[in-house]
Amino acid sequence: MKKPLSISLILACSMLVSGYASAEAPLAPAPMPVEMQQMMKVYSPELRQKVMALSPELKGTIQQLHAGHTRRAKETNLRQIMHEILSEYQSIASSLATDNAEQAAESARRLANHRIPKGGLLAYFPLDKVNTADLSVLPTMNAAVEGSALKLAEAADKGDMSMAASYMSDIMTGCVACHQKFRGVPGVSANLMTPVKK
Ligand code: HEC
Repeated sequence: MKKPLSISLILACSMLVSGYASAEAPLAPAPMPVEMQQMMKVYSPELRQKVMALSPELKGTIQQLHAGHTRRAKETNLRQIMHEILSEYQSIASSLATDNAEQAAESARRLANHRIPKGGLLAYFPLDKVNTADLSVLPTMNAAVEGSALKLAEAADKGDMSMAASYMSDIMTGCVACHQKFRGVPGVSANLMTPVKK
């Protein structure tokens, strides 16, 4: 009789403690990966709160997405990195058109291993999209863009340029999908009476 009681007491206590920890000390919960903790130091309180509220699974996934990239930007922002990615995409197109398998493979691998912008991706997403439901599509988009780029590189390595070319639309489908969900309207003018609608 004594033992089950003490076990259930321990359980109850640990539940209380973990509940208390997540309610009272949101800055140091167990599942927050180290690199994300570093990035969060420069986040605004609003963004930090949103990131803290993500599910532990999603935090792990985002950490993995970041960790899959070996190159880190110091000051570059996401929009600049996006232009780098676009340059790589254009370089792939050029290499396919000129039957340059090595350029195709290298550009595709650079695209897949693009630099991570200062503060990570989330810092540049609209705040109302930084939640578990909206961000859970990230791995799918990552697979479309970076997964297809790596497949393109492999096909180019084998000299199969038509197979390589077939992945271009898969990559672009991923770009378009992510933009539709997470990108605002670029270049909107504050001086137009009828702003561009999306
Ligand atoms: C994970 C989501 C995501 C994916 C995948 C993605 N983008 Fe973006 N992209 C964004 C966001 C968010 C912005 C807006 C960044 C900002 O303005 O701070 C953006 C902006 C851009 C811009 C800057 C100019 C503009 O139109 O806003 C270019 C160029 C761009 N993306 C190209 C690409 C290309 C090419 C691909 C695919 C190879 C791609 N992106 C894939 C999220 C994504």
